[in-house]
Amino acid sequence: MGNVLQLAYTDIGQGAPLLLLHAFPLTRAMWQPQITALQATHRLIVPDLRGFGATAAPPGAYMMAQFAADLIALLDQLELPQVALGGLSMGGYIAFELLRQAPERIAALILADTRPGTDTTEGQARREANAQIAETQGAAAIAELMIPNLVAPSATAELRTTLRGLILGNSPTGIAGALRGMAQRPDSTPDLAAIRVPTLIVVGEHDTLTPPSEAAAMHAAIAASTLVTIPAAGHLPNLEQPAAFTNALQQFLARL
Ligand code: MLT
Repeated sequence: MGNVLQLAYTDIGQGAPLLLLHAFPLTRAMWQPQITALQATHRLIVPDLRGFGATAAPPGAYMMAQFAADLIALLDQLELPQVALGGLSMGGYIAFELLRQAPERIAALILADTRPGTDTTEGQARREANAQIAETQGAAAIAELMIPNLVAPSATAELRTTLRGLILGNSPTGIAGALRGMAQRPDSTPDLAAIRVPTLIVVGEHDTLTPPSEAAAMHAAIAASTLVTIPAAGHLPNLEQPAAFTNALQQFLARL
């Protein structure tokens, strides 16, 4: 394991702590609708993960274990023994790793538009190709490639522009590091049956990257889980249908 990084983060609101992990290749800013809605009832800890936003982007592949080590160091720094943990897509991959490394720190789990399995060989090759595109053509080329898959076809031009802005704020080194790390992520499928904490699984109805079938399989495997499907949303329901997504979170968090 390399050195842990000091993460840039938002720490706002009062109440039970909720740590939210953003998707690839975005930043903590993707959680703004939830930060706004939940800060009256929760303390939100929302970092820019290694390689993204205002956090440094060192060279090399970012292993899920390294992302998790950065986050445990942040929780230590904030003296937070336990949090509710939410991750969307790559954030979910990292949440699975946090569950392996520090299960005692996690009081509840939100798995949004994510999946426990590994990449196929073809998927790994695509990640390496995209890492090289990021390095040679920059973040804009990654934005062009990814935005059509991130949101449902009905997503507004305004949201697409927002996403483009978030992606362009990231460095090619950070984008490539996350791609190469995700390609090597471990299989979390065997861990699902051991998850005992209350778990909310959320998925956009039209998510093609981590489709509703993945969410249904996680729901079947995790005993104390609730599944919510967000209509008229793709891979980023928290931004595409923020009211419905936030409502699902609020209902889940209120039951804890
Ligand atoms: C994400 O949204 O974090 C990515 O699409 C995840 C992935 O590429 O597997």
